[in-house]
Amino acid sequence: MNGSLAANAALLEALGEGLKDLSLPLTCEVAVCVPAPYLAQVQGLKSSRSSLSALAVGAQDVSAQASGAYTGEVSAAMLQDFGCRYVIVGHSERRQYHGESDALVADKAKAALAAGITPIVCIGETLAEREGGHTEEVVKRQLAAVIHVNGHCISEIVVAYEPVWAIGTGKTASPEEAQAVHAVLRAQLRAATDHPMRVKILYGGSMNAANAAALLSQPDIDGGLIGGASLKAPDFLKIIAAAQI
Ligand code: PGA
Repeated sequence: MNGSLAANAALLEALGEGLKDLSLPLTCEVAVCVPAPYLAQVQGLKSSRSSLSALAVGAQDVSAQASGAYTGEVSAAMLQDFGCRYVIVGHSERRQYHGESDALVADKAKAALAAGITPIVCIGETLAEREGGHTEEVVKRQLAAVIHVNGHCISEIVVAYEPVWAIGTGKTASPEEAQAVHAVLRAQLRAATDHPMRVKILYGGSMNAANAAALLSQPDIDGGLIGGASLKAPDFLKIIAAAQI
């Protein structure tokens, strides 16, 4: 729940300028996931500035329902209307503050896929779960729910491993800690699809300009889901540069 018309315009302006300076074409995919009320603004900015043409647009949540009497909800078809290529589902804040279950998150991923939108499925353990030695069990359970509901379409999703204790706290999982979990997730995907390498597994949780390169150098860390650092164009641009192959 960050941003405003003015702040979004300034951020995208600075991002566009910075992207022009990077060695183009981009070899990594870059998307901004925008609060729903600003999707139209960001679509408009993107189409009016060639420097932003490589930037994909995503949303931060979606309804599991296709349409109908669900006041306040935003459907995948609505996101599609605004050119969304991605939508985040199951962010830990949705799970924690809105009681979203593994099953609901899986249904949201399914609704997105049905509309041709790639769900970025967030999973991750809390501090208590990590300290109790339950990290693997928790992330496998969360991913298994999405695999169960989405079957062979699972190769079309993006996974974001976000240890809850690392989100917005300045505490990052070390590259080795993150890689260990990513390897577990890759093995789980390998058992579920013939195309496990097609699924990008992002790391999220206090990724920043200083630690991005080390995290992204790990074999199963394919990208990042950036919160706070994405709100500062120079930092976000440094992370994008680190992700360039
Ligand atoms: P952070 O946020 O990068 O500020 O830790 C990540 C997130 O909210 O997913």
